[in-house]
Amino acid sequence: MQSYTLLAPAKINLLLEVIGDRPDGYHELVMVMQSVDLADEVKITPLAGDRIIVRCDHPMVPTDSSNLAYKAARLMQQQYPGHGGVEIQIQKRIPIGAGLAGGSTDGAATLVGLDLMWNLGLTQAELEYYAAQLGSDVPFCVGGGTKLALGRGEELSPLADLDQCYAVLAKYDSLSVSTPWAYQTYRTRFADCYANSPEAQEVRRRQGPSVPLLKAMQAQDYVQIGQCLHNDLERAVLDELPRVARLKETFLKHQPLGCLMSGSGPTVFALTQTQAEAQALAQQVQAAIADADLQCWVTQFCRFGISVLEPV
Ligand code: C5P
Repeated sequence: MQSYTLLAPAKINLLLEVIGDRPDGYHELVMVMQSVDLADEVKITPLAGDRIIVRCDHPMVPTDSSNLAYKAARLMQQQYPGHGGVEIQIQKRIPIGAGLAGGSTDGAATLVGLDLMWNLGLTQAELEYYAAQLGSDVPFCVGGGTKLALGRGEELSPLADLDQCYAVLAKYDSLSVSTPWAYQTYRTRFADCYANSPEAQEVRRRQGPSVPLLKAMQAQDYVQIGQCLHNDLERAVLDELPRVARLKETFLKHQPLGCLMSGSGPTVFALTQTQAEAQALAQQVQAAIADADLQCWVTQFCRFGISVLEPV
């Protein structure tokens, strides 16, 4: 049995609209998700017995059964018994608790890696089916690229690639957000505007902020795309975290194509059309904020999700 090293990219949300409640306790969402080339490396190695071991070079990442990579390995062992144990080594490049799907992409990489290592020949649809059992963002992370995500986030449709775009990501190192907290904070303030019947939810989907964004994306109109970015959770999280609100204001002063908090935050990203503009923007924002706690990454949109870096 061979070991595999996989590249597991982060995602940003060009749009996250909270439509209403779902019977399963989650929120009904409309999201436009985009992979970027900031990626973790996940190495999958066979182990004797049935043991699952997770190792990570980042001290804040749990390596017990709460890690999504661990959960992915356990799910695969349950579905396809008899292939033995696995060691999963994660080199963390994506910041944690950031709204960039860092944990989800490691879970997706583990599914893809075990499919290869155990020679199962699963289709992308089968991998996404297992991924949905691990978390709402995990199915997107399997195939990545540019996608519309409905339902809990697991109903995916491909959109035209947008790879002529750069995203400067910025996050305070010491600040992390828990996804349930972000949704709960939003719910406390806005649950009275939720559309909860299937009919009302359909009307909301057809009239919401995804309509102009998808039109701009279809036309590959990057200026318009920048103006149509939208995240419902942003209002709630930025009110609670004024440092993050200030970060967004600072980005906007430098007139990027657009600027938004990603997912449940607190990472804020700003879009540019060239790498040189992105690098200049990252420097300007770091100089303006002048806080050693602020980290910036210049990333490019990418067309892929989990990919094999090297069979070892
Ligand atoms: O699916 P996942 O485990 O990533 O979701 C984490 C949390 O985010 C959920 O426990 C829930 O609080 C919130 N969530 C939600 N509706 C969604 C996705 C996530 O309320 N569609």
